[in-house]
Amino acid sequence: MANRKYIVGNWKMNGLRTELTDIADIAAIAGQNKQVDVAICPPVTLITQAAANSPGFTIGAQDCHYAKNGAHTGCLSATMIREAGAIMTILGHSERRADQHESDAEVKAKAEAAHAAGLGAIICVGETEEERDAGKAVDVVCGQLEGSFPDGADPHWLTIAYEPVWAIGTGRVPEASDVEEMHAAIRHKLGKLMDEGADTVRILYGGSMNGGNAAELLAVPNVDGGLVGGASLTAEKFGPIIEAAAAS
Ligand code: 13P
Repeated sequence: MANRKYIVGNWKMNGLRTELTDIADIAAIAGQNKQVDVAICPPVTLITQAAANSPGFTIGAQDCHYAKNGAHTGCLSATMIREAGAIMTILGHSERRADQHESDAEVKAKAEAAHAAGLGAIICVGETEEERDAGKAVDVVCGQLEGSFPDGADPHWLTIAYEPVWAIGTGRVPEASDVEEMHAAIRHKLGKLMDEGADTVRILYGGSMNGGNAAELLAVPNVDGGLVGGASLTAEKFGPIIEAAAAS
């Protein structure tokens, strides 16, 4: 796959103003590795300042609402997030699917709202450990992908992230052969869901990626990058992942 690698840091509910220096340091490393696309998705409270501090570096969000505006206390529309300075957003992360009970249909509506507001979208899919043990991982993930898949999807604005729930924050990583099987299944499913462009939609792997395992994971066929949680919080940890992508 000739896709440029895409390395995205998901800061989740981490980061105060003092951590803006980490984003600036990460942006500087990204600037030295221009053959890789790099982004950080900090909490919304840091988006505007992070984007202003590091012009040209991609800042994303971690969610948006599907409605344009209205009576949704505490929520943020895609347009608000765009206006704050983000140019893309993660959607349907397993933590939101579990904690906020987000359905596939809601994720699809959010992706369409994001696109309408000019935001790129990274749609997350992934199986639980029970589903993998039951031999249902590929079916579950392809089902989530189909249900969450936005109308009008295009590789210019849509990215998929495969994140096995049991690998997130646990230090456990699937076998390379399992990652290869899943990413091939996702690629195949994209071919069914899209008239064209399925080959160039980037499919990221996420779940305990770090500087020690990134090179191996990024060498797996159809792995076009990584969605990184804990190891994206500092330049010291995230830099080696960006460099591994640059060398791949
Ligand atoms: P960790 O890299 O901390 O396992 O988190 C992965 C993740 O959930 C990124 O969205």
